[in-house]
Amino acid sequence: MAKYVAAIDQGTTSTRCIFFDRTGTIVSVAQKEHAQIYPKPGWVEHNPDEIWKNTLEVVALARIKVSATARDIAAIGITNQRETTVVWNRRTGRPYYNALVWQDTRTSEQVAQYEQQGGLDQFRERTGLPVSTYFSGLKLQWLLENVEGLREDAENGTALFGTIDTFLIWHLTGGTQGGIHVTDVTNASRTQLMNLRTLAWDDAMLEAYRIPKTMLPTIRSSSEVYGTVASEVLPGVPIAGALGDQHAALVGQACFDPGMAKNTYGTGCFLVMNTGDELKMSENGLLTTIAYQFGQEPVQYALEGSIAIAGALVQWVRDNLGLIQRSEDIESLARTVEDNGGAYVVPAFSGLYAPYWRNDARGVIAGLTRYVNKGHIARAVLEATAYQTVDVVNAMAQDSGIDLVALRVDGGMVANELLMQFQADMLGVPVVAPAVAETTALGAAYAAGLAVGYWADKEDLRKNWAVARSWEPDQAALRRDEFYAGWQKAVTKSYGWME
Ligand code: G3P
Repeated sequence: MAKYVAAIDQGTTSTRCIFFDRTGTIVSVAQKEHAQIYPKPGWVEHNPDEIWKNTLEVVALARIKVSATARDIAAIGITNQRETTVVWNRRTGRPYYNALVWQDTRTSEQVAQYEQQGGLDQFRERTGLPVSTYFSGLKLQWLLENVEGLREDAENGTALFGTIDTFLIWHLTGGTQGGIHVTDVTNASRTQLMNLRTLAWDDAMLEAYRIPKTMLPTIRSSSEVYGTVASEVLPGVPIAGALGDQHAALVGQACFDPGMAKNTYGTGCFLVMNTGDELKMSENGLLTTIAYQFGQEPVQYALEGSIAIAGALVQWVRDNLGLIQRSEDIESLARTVEDNGGAYVVPAFSGLYAPYWRNDARGVIAGLTRYVNKGHIARAVLEATAYQTVDVVNAMAQDSGIDLVALRVDGGMVANELLMQFQADMLGVPVVAPAVAETTALGAAYAAGLAVGYWADKEDLRKNWAVARSWEPDQAALRRDEFYAGWQKAVTKSYGWME
């Protein structure tokens, strides 16, 4: 009997393969970073070939670490950075261009045009999303309009589109030798090309963005057998789960009931609340999205507050400013001071996402006086993530009518004690981290394991969830209001840099 379920987590900065056992415990991990390509200000690309090569390497490495054979693996689940857009040739497997990464803002002008003609919310009813540089649809339109010969190949069925899940599944199941061209509902919901009600590609959206349907993958549930691995790396193992990474984290956190929410602190920060089979349209700048769909079960919806820059701000302080040597040093630097000294950092590097959706915003440091030192800046950098989360939680409470009683958290920044305590203080509710911190990979493993009967049902998964650590809010309510007012003022200073 198979011992493990494997998850491939293809994220913005790295690719990982993790094997889990039945209790959801990690038994093997391998990870590899890939290059971030910044050809111009605002442009962010990845090399798809590098991502595919890294995927094979990490799977092989995870196997070697526990001497596993293909027979030890019950199924593979895929989870991925969402929205990132790849186009490749079905005959050669070659990408036509680098992948356009979700953070890429090269379609800003098109967004501004939509804003003037019809407004940013004109596709919300169909797709749950505002017009933004963030989603795949406009990225794909850009590729079709700027890569020579691509539109023709798309129309005659030679060029294929995919988000990273689709790209990896196509390669894993055979590539040019008969790879399967599919995506799951959660990833499809981030293209802005899928209709949230019918769960099919929306003809009006395809027309609006001038996308040929022939290049799109088939939309499937998040938990079913899509095909088996053709590559030598895990031959014959079923690929049985796929979810965008934030949806996978929701599953990994066992947020299966309406009103349950998780916040993942990674490159960006993504707060997702399960709203059950009810499709709620946000009136406060959140996204309506798919939570997950397990096989034939009804699709579950979610509200999401997406924050483009969280951990990436710490990396910027490390790599671009050189204020710290390692990301984790931000905490000790921030602890050299009592508070932010009046300084605020608004990391609007890709505009501002939820709940503002300001394409014209760019990063600012506000409130500087001669008093402010690098400790205060470090503190303001960490606080920025907490304030952005408060913005989203407030919007979530207004949209859902549900006040959060606790926030389940995960992602790399959870290791930052100062941030987690400050987050609890600012929210006024406990912040809770689970025993298995790798919730994204775990969620993908769960989806795959459920499809092949490795786990029986959601109850089985709920039992695996346990609290590892919790931060209780301090009664610093007075300062909470003062800090948050400063943040809100700083946000307004980030507007208007693109007119
Ligand atoms: O929407 C973008 C998100 O899926 C990226 O997540 O963890 O790769 O930064 P991450």
